[in-house]
Parts: sequence; structure tokens; C-alpha cells
Amino acid sequence: MKIAIVGYGKMGHEVEKIANARGITVASIIDPTERNATHREINAQSMENVDVCIDFTMPDAVIGNLKQISKFEKNIVVGTTGWGNNLDEARSIVDKSNIGLIYAPNFSIGVNVFFKIIENAARMINNIEDYDVYGYELHHSKKLDSPSGTAKSIEQILLRNIKRKKHVPFASVRSGFIPGTHVVGFDSSADTIELKHTARNREGFAIGAIMAAQWIQNKKGLYSISDMMNELIGDE
Ligand SMILES: NC(=O)c1ccc[n+]([C@@H]2O[C@H](COP(=O)([O-])OP(=O)(O)OC[C@H]3O[C@@H](n4cnc5c(N)ncnc54)[C@H](OP(=O)(O)O)[C@@H]3O)[C@@H](O)[C@H]2O)c1
Repeated sequence: MKIAIVGYGKMGHEVEKIANARGITVASIIDPTERNATHREINAQSMENVDVCIDFTMPDAVIGNLKQISKFEKNIVVGTTGWGNNLDEARSIVDKSNIGLIYAPNFSIGVNVFFKIIENAARMINNIEDYDVYGYELHHSKKLDSPSGTAKSIEQILLRNIKRKKHVPFASVRSGFIPGTHVVGFDSSADTIELKHTARNREGFAIGAIMAAQWIQNKKGLYSISDMMNELIGDE
């Protein structure tokens, strides 16, 4: 498989590192300003020999990039976050141009497994009224958003599956250099059950994005990471 990296920031560099380690050819690196990118824009030259594009850019850039990439009928992995309001437009571009797209606010396979574990645990706790629920997340002091997108997803999963709860107390801490920790707890008068995911670095996002590129390579249509995860773990 040959990939194009669209956006040569922190994640673009991480994707390049993982692709090289896994013997996946990086056919082009596209970024309007980064000095070491191979191309400035998505065009016939930068799309030559490319099977799948991996976009880690900025929310405002996603739809424009998708329009360009679809002209060359290339499939695409969108790792960029914060463009969810444009999902319908993305779907219509994907359908019209007959390409494949997979997106995820978090491409870490571990985090997506964690989501499934929380979902199952929450279903069990739903019927055991003695248990209350809480969560917290820890990130480095430079992180801009608070709560994290992952924390928001966890809250949604808990509220969907613990029907008796209308609100989950969920704290966010920003300090030091912590790459990212998310904890969910179920607490009764007798004991506490805690589920915890700890990220070591950004590598997990890049590994997941490369796996997604392999998964989407021969597909058409718009998919989210949960479609890939369900296939990976053999769920419905
Ligand atoms: N899904 C996940 O698992 C996951 C994980 C981590 C991060 N993210 C998301 O991925 C995105 C990128 O994160 P990052 O940490 O890599 O950010 P970053 O270091 O700021 O990198 C973004 C890069 O994309 C470039 N860019 C902007 N518009 C572009 C365009 N139209 N075409 C090509 N390149 C363009 C930027 O160039 P300029 O500097 O010139 O603007 C910059 O070099 C963010 O939305 C972040 O939230 C997702």
C-alpha cells in the first residue's frame, strides 16, 4: 500500500514514522508550509501512485481536502477532529465520487477497545442500582480542549447504557506532561470498580490510522472507526 500524508504536523510525522517501520511506502507528504513536505497541494503530481490519503490537518481544511482528493478517486482516512458538523457534506462527496472514507476522533485501537469495555460494563451496572458512576481524565498542561473529546465520548457511552443516569460527574485535570489518561469508576457502598486507559504517546493514533488505511483501501462509502472495530473484535 502507498499512502499520501496530508498535513505534516505532529501527527503527520508520527504517521510517517509508523509507515516506515511497517514497510508502507509514503508516496507523498502534502503541507502548504512545512519545509520538508514533498508537495504543497493536492494535485495530479502529489496523488500519483497513491492508494490512500491520511489527513491530519485542521478542521477547516478537511472538506476542501476531501473535494480535491475525490477528484483523483483516492480513498481517505480522516484523523483531523472538529469537523463533525460537515459530516453530511462529506457523505455526499464520498457517494458522488464513489470513494471510501473512514474517520475517527480517536484512532487509538486501545481507546476504542476501552470504549467497548466501558459499554459492556455500563450495561451490567445499569441493573445494579447500588452503583454510582464517575470519571476523570488527566492531560498535559498544553492541551487546549477540556474536557477531552475522548472524555465526551465516554460520557455519551455511559449515559446511553446506564438509563437511570442523566448526568455523569467527570473531572478534567491539566498538568505537567501527561499524554492522556481516562478513568471510569463504578462505586457502591461496599466497593469501587475502576477502568483505566493510559496513553504513553501519540504512536497509538498513528498505528490506528495506518490500520484504518489498510482497512479502507478497497472499500467504498463512509465509515467510522466503530465499523472497523466491530470487524476487528468480531462484534455485531
Ligand atoms: N483522530 C486521532 O486519533 C487524532 C489524534 C491526534 C490528533 N488528532 C487531530 O489531528 C489534527 C492534527 O493534529 P496535529 O497535532 O498533527 O496538528 P499540527 O501539528 O498543528 O499539524 C497540522 C498540520 O497540517 C497542516 N495543514 C493545515 N491545512 C492543511 C491543508 N489544507 N493541507 C495540508 N496540510 C495542512 C498544518 O500546516 P500549517 O502549520 O501551515 O497550518 C500543520 O502542519 C488535529 O485536528 C487533531 O485534533 C486526531
